[in-house]
Amino acid sequence: MDKIIIEGGNTRLSGQVTIEGAKNAVLPLLAATILAEEGKTTLTNVPILSDVYTMNNVVRGLDVDVAFDEANNQVTVDATGDILDVAPYEYVSKMRASIVVLGPLLARKGHAVVSMPGGCTIGSRPIDLHLKGLEALGAEITQTGGDITATADKLKGTTIYMDFPSVGATQNLMMAATLAEGTTIIENAAREPEIVDLAVLLNKMGAKVRGAGTETLTIVGVDSLHGVEHDVVQDRIEAGTFMVAAAMTSGDVLVKNAIWEHNRPLISKLMEMGVEVTEEENGIRVKSDVAKLKPVTVKTLPHPGFPTDMQAQFTALMAVVSGESTMIETVFENRFQHLEEMRRMGLRSEIMRDTAVIHGGEHLQGAPVMSTDLRASAALILAGMVADGVTTVSKLNHLDRGYYKFHEKLQALGATIRRVSEEG
Ligand code: UD1
Repeated sequence: MDKIIIEGGNTRLSGQVTIEGAKNAVLPLLAATILAEEGKTTLTNVPILSDVYTMNNVVRGLDVDVAFDEANNQVTVDATGDILDVAPYEYVSKMRASIVVLGPLLARKGHAVVSMPGGCTIGSRPIDLHLKGLEALGAEITQTGGDITATADKLKGTTIYMDFPSVGATQNLMMAATLAEGTTIIENAAREPEIVDLAVLLNKMGAKVRGAGTETLTIVGVDSLHGVEHDVVQDRIEAGTFMVAAAMTSGDVLVKNAIWEHNRPLISKLMEMGVEVTEEENGIRVKSDVAKLKPVTVKTLPHPGFPTDMQAQFTALMAVVSGESTMIETVFENRFQHLEEMRRMGLRSEIMRDTAVIHGGEHLQGAPVMSTDLRASAALILAGMVADGVTTVSKLNHLDRGYYKFHEKLQALGATIRRVSEEG
């Protein structure tokens, strides 16, 4: 497996960086394409990521025709045939997010068998809200032999209150409800921009989804959906990662096509620290002088709160800012492993349950470190850019799930970074 080698210390990023379509948007969008009984669906601005290949395979496994034109960042799905209703373990086990095929599959086929997703390093991640919601829509759910089987001749619209605004559960229920009889109301729904993007696609396909981006979604069921073209929304987490990278290296970077509104929770924390963030015509510009930044307290929350997917990267920034910063992680219960790795680089931090206190401003030292999950891998690479000496980051399978050519983009901004195969 490859590793990334960074010569850190005095990296100062400058220039422009282009971001990709959002991983967390495209995965549910691909699941939604199986709802189209008529016509092909083409998604554009699709990022080239291992998670996208995995989801393509999950959909292909349903006997659906999926063509990925990487040169044009385009996926075309033809689900018009008689698709299968079983998503097997061999695909689903590779990626938790594949559970979002359950809702659309059940809605289209009246019967769906999806393997139960396995464990995850960042927390227990149950799917009870997905299943309870589908049951409320009239599905009968059984779990045997590691599979979830859902059956409903016809789903029936109802009001569902979600205990927690789960992103995946909202997506699953929204897709299931598009073909249900009558009206479904989802209260305390997730409000992430990726939910809005899914609603936009579904509505183009002929669905009637209202209220996406607010805490109440109303879905009026229709008889069938058809294929369309759709451009995937920009990746706010990739954009945010580069914004943090610029801030922690006293850089000056324009993150092209980044959407201000989507990154507001992050931008407000950067500004509170003293980072200069401005909205330009073609993106978001981040300028900073680390010596002048102040420590802050950050708490992760569902959108529009501070995103848990930016938590790890933001702790790398906290590590270079003089003083004591606090990070409170409320979304996942085990998402501080990157801090244990950063300890190998000399970071002083204390972790008490969901709270990490970071003693920033002391020089980090380069060290061999290991990615523990997707966003942790980015955080360790960012830390490597400001650490004295050489840092090597291994287990890049995590990075490749969500960042396209991350090292090349950082290199173009001035980082001394390269990717090599483990052997050479
Ligand atoms: C999505 C994102 C992930 C992000 C997360 C939170 C994708 C592909 N992934 O994951 O990058 O970190 O949102 O913003 O979009 N929960 C339950 N029961 C459930 C479902 C969730 O208790 O049925 C809990 C989870 O354990 C977790 C919290 O709710 O503690 C958030 O999970 P959720 O919003 O569902 O995240 P995902 O959709 O898995």
